[in-house]
Amino acid sequence: MSNIVIVGTQWGDEGKGKIVDLLAEFADIIIRFQGGNNAGHTLVVDGKQFISHLIPSGILQGKVCLIGNGLVVDPAVLIEEMDLLTDMGIKVGPDNLRISETANLIMPYHKQIDLAREEMKGDKKIGTTGRGIGPCYEDKVARMGIRFVELLDPDTFKEKVFAVMEEKNFYLEKFLSSAPIDPQSIIDIYSEYAKKLSPYISNVSVELDRAIKQEKHILFEGAQGTHLDIDHGTYPYVTSSNTVAGNASCGSGIGPGKLDKIIGIVKAYTTRVGSGPFTTELFDETGEKIQKKGAEFGATTGRKRRCGWLDMVMLKNSVRLNSLTSLVLTKLDVLSGLETIEICTAYECNGKIIKDFPADQKVLSSCTPVCETFSGWSREIDDIRTLEDLPENAKKYLKRIEELSGVPVGIVSVGPGREQTIIVNNPFFIDKNC
Ligand code: GDP
Ligand code: IMO
Ligand code: MG
Repeated sequence: MSNIVIVGTQWGDEGKGKIVDLLAEFADIIIRFQGGNNAGHTLVVDGKQFISHLIPSGILQGKVCLIGNGLVVDPAVLIEEMDLLTDMGIKVGPDNLRISETANLIMPYHKQIDLAREEMKGDKKIGTTGRGIGPCYEDKVARMGIRFVELLDPDTFKEKVFAVMEEKNFYLEKFLSSAPIDPQSIIDIYSEYAKKLSPYISNVSVELDRAIKQEKHILFEGAQGTHLDIDHGTYPYVTSSNTVAGNASCGSGIGPGKLDKIIGIVKAYTTRVGSGPFTTELFDETGEKIQKKGAEFGATTGRKRRCGWLDMVMLKNSVRLNSLTSLVLTKLDVLSGLETIEICTAYECNGKIIKDFPADQKVLSSCTPVCETFSGWSREIDDIRTLEDLPENAKKYLKRIEELSGVPVGIVSVGPGREQTIIVNNPFFIDKNC
């Protein structure tokens, strides 16, 4: 039995989707445990691309996919994604997709509040994806969220919508100068969603428990990245959920003792979409080269991703916060052709060397990176399938990441395709502590 958690170690878009799709072959169940359709996980199989926003990336491998209680789900997006997969010839039905009855529903007012607030903030905006994620999590914590279980009971659903709309419309109109929403229109639309989604609503926690007792392999798919975590990220420039591995337990309804291995996905450089400090950001030609070669555009919003060098202060933070047992290094191919490559090993701030990631955003904004420089390699590596065949300088770069992080690299990704992967150690087959 192996229950494996996949998390992003940076600011998201590390290539989690590709790795979940790859490892899903060896799993029985794949579960998403947090976030919503702010995520964009790209899978490339036989040259065809699919971007999943909500449905776990194991769907293309024909496995059972679960949406955990920790998610905020926009039912319209979920239905759209289900229809898209069906059109692609992928089977999606209640026998291979289930949604936790206690996952929260993203409502039209969440999206409207998210967008209106960002507009109001002007240049102080977070740069959210505008999908209503933050406002939906706020309501969950304020105990005024509406959950999937309520979709099964039209009277309770109606009652809850009417109760909440008074406050929402007041806030929309009076504070955000935005149009009010007619509660009945929400009820009409959501009752159609309820008809379609009711067969999928289930007690995911009980189901997982049963699977664990049957020694099934479970893959927990994280979204976003450790530095977008609501507690541990670059607050307030973060998302509104816990993205760290601890939430794999809470967001799916099983105890933490059931998690065997935690894999951190590390892009060979760093990217960020949206606002917030970024110590190793490159504003020069090299940054542009990486952005172009890595096709660094947001999978959800299409925004250009900011690019910079790999940051070990961040990666070490992720190792500690997630108890990482191994790393997957992605997009190493993107660095091919660069004369030199840098790794940031510490920050300098007001003449002091800092090795721990600072919580204060003002301090973080004033940090400059202290870097080690490596010679690059000229050969393209997207066709390489063994570690031994990598250019010597690529091997040195990888080795140094292992040394500095103290965590072994189990998989190296050298292209977007499922096959463009070097598997050093398959986490489903190696012993529990690796
Ligand atoms: P996620 O959100 O962590 O799943 O990552 P995204 O899908 O948003 O962004 C990663 C992008 O890089 C996607 O377009 C992937 O197809 C692509 N990708 C993943 N791994 C590799 C790799 O090793 N090399 C290259 N060149 N592209 C990759
Ligand atoms: P995946 O799973 C990269 C960023 C947004 C914004 C901040 C808050 O594909 O790695 P939100 O809409 O969540 O309130 O936005 O978080 N963000 C992501 N950045 N990848 C993601 O997901 C992200 N999900 C949210 O750009 O800066
Ligand atoms: Mg993404």
